[in-house]
Amino acid sequence: MANISYVNGLYCNIQEAKININDRGYHFGDAVYEVILYNNGVFYDYDGHIKRLFNSLKLINIKFHLSDQQLKIIIKNLFRLNRVNFGSIYIQVSRGVADRNHSYFGLKSKPILTMIVSKKKNNISDEIKGVKAITMVDNRWSRPDIKTTQLLPNVLAKTYANKKNAYEGIFIDHEGYVTEGSSSNIWIINKNNEILTREIDGKILSGITRNTISQFAKNNNFKMLEKKFTKDEMLNSREVFLTSASSFVTPIIEIDNIKIGNGIIGKTSIELRNLYFKKFN
Ligand code: PDD
Repeated sequence: MANISYVNGLYCNIQEAKININDRGYHFGDAVYEVILYNNGVFYDYDGHIKRLFNSLKLINIKFHLSDQQLKIIIKNLFRLNRVNFGSIYIQVSRGVADRNHSYFGLKSKPILTMIVSKKKNNISDEIKGVKAITMVDNRWSRPDIKTTQLLPNVLAKTYANKKNAYEGIFIDHEGYVTEGSSSNIWIINKNNEILTREIDGKILSGITRNTISQFAKNNNFKMLEKKFTKDEMLNSREVFLTSASSFVTPIIEIDNIKIGNGIIGKTSIELRNLYFKKFN
């Protein structure tokens, strides 16, 4: 079990970790985060995740005091202390501690950094499982491109999906186009064998796994387009899969009780998943 966490300068047992009740992350979701996959000494897309973390901080005006080098030392220490071979790290930076007041105008708080390591139960070599998904209206705020901890709509969406025996909730915008999953980016392979994922248009998170997979697709001569697609196009496609740091490339074989393709895992999804794991081994 991964027990040692990092809280504001201290490595401590997760049971003893303490956060001030006036932390703005706790009050307002005034915080940003990242999740990075780790496998036997290798961090997947490390630089991309750290770059996005600093970009998220910039977008909500949090002046962070640590450099990427200092962050790397803490992250490596945590994996060493926890003796985890295959897992992920959750990194969160909040604006810090202050008396409760919505505005941070003029506030001189010091950002609070926390990190938690999780061990993964599954393994890369495990048999790939296709999952089910459920669609729902995208009711999130207008800046889902920033990776903040303000995730209540995503939490409700995932919970609703799980209640319906599905793995992921897929958001649909008010024009009928797919945006993304509650914690993943969504891809389809259409009848023309084109691989499609929504363009970075401010309506989705610029997923780091998404960027890597899109490079693989382009480098391996797949027909790949960054272009939005409708819910109907998705339901009528050959293959659907999702990507994220915690779910890698995961095939979706059923959406809203409708089978995708023949309800079996598609070969392109498997190929891209294998390429993803190969890159980091
Ligand atoms: N979620 N879209 C959303 C809304 C997400 O929350 C995530 C990741 C992604 C995929 O991004 P990436 O490939 O960089 O992980 C897309 C993480 C894993 C989480 O919240 O746990």
